[in-house]
Amino acid sequence: MTDLVQHIKNKLHGKVAIVTGGASGLGEVTARHFINHGARAVVIADVQDEKGQKVSVSIGPDRCTYIHCDVTDEDQVKSLVETTVSLYGQLDIMFSNAGIIAPKMQVVTDLDMSAFDKVFAVNVRGMAASVKHAALAMKEGGVKGSIICTASVMASMANSTGGTDYVMSKHAVLGLVRAASLQLAGYGIRVNSVSPGMVATPMMCKRFGAEKEVTMKKVEKFSRLEGVNTEKHVADAVSFLASDESEFVTGHDLVVDGLFVYPL
Ligand SMILES: NC(=O)c1ccc[n+]([C@@H]2O[C@H](COP(=O)([O-])OP(=O)(O)OC[C@H]3O[C@@H](n4cnc5c(N)ncnc54)[C@H](O)[C@@H]3O)[C@@H](O)[C@H]2O)c1
Repeated sequence: MTDLVQHIKNKLHGKVAIVTGGASGLGEVTARHFINHGARAVVIADVQDEKGQKVSVSIGPDRCTYIHCDVTDEDQVKSLVETTVSLYGQLDIMFSNAGIIAPKMQVVTDLDMSAFDKVFAVNVRGMAASVKHAALAMKEGGVKGSIICTASVMASMANSTGGTDYVMSKHAVLGLVRAASLQLAGYGIRVNSVSPGMVATPMMCKRFGAEKEVTMKKVEKFSRLEGVNTEKHVADAVSFLASDESEFVTGHDLVVDGLFVYPL
């Protein structure tokens, strides 16, 4: 029994991971989860330098590095991946997770096209650049790696009161995962996505204009399962997709939402 527990705890033993958007929310918790499951090193890539540095220091300089990387800039993504490989020898896991929402919930007739472009630059262009450069490094290093993209329940549904740009961007993530998983399967590189329901991260707290505890109460109403959808639920799913436990899973969207519903 102890051996089994140890094996489960070490399911990422020796692996090197990048987490984009790792300074906060789902990315931060997943970066810590990777380390707790035996990852050799995690590189946190974000634009929030102070927060990212803090997370990296708290995980420990022997196993974690913070690198400033704006995923909308392909050169920065390329350099992030190259630096990771030169620091740690290889890249096994890319958790492409950085994402934003527009400041306002936009219905289609209200679309502010410059806000739309910003959402697409991070959620679609940044996601594609991250998958591209991770896959190139894995191919080059002969690594049968795992790429996981953060989509959303909104990748497969819509919201009548807005979020048109976000809904569209997350649908695009599923398209990216489908295309890339097919194109990379021959190299043994797996590409999957995780689709969280509502989680009370800083992004959602800002959207609801409330502190974490209050936001948790609000998001609770969005799932049929009793309880609150948390960062740990998502991190567990990502760690599974990152590990050899899912070695024959690719092109899959793993929904972690306790059955999402719009509250009445
Ligand atoms: N929280 C939810 O309910 C929820 C639900 C479904 C999907 N998601 C998705 O999960 C992912 C993480 O979101 P979160 O809820 O943890 O939010 P968050 O705001 O706490 O974290 C997002 C992180 O991405 C970083 N980021 C933003 N733009 C970036 C850029 N250009 N380059 C690099 N990093 C950048 C931010 O600085 C932040 O640290 C996003 O893709 C989001 O769309 C969140």
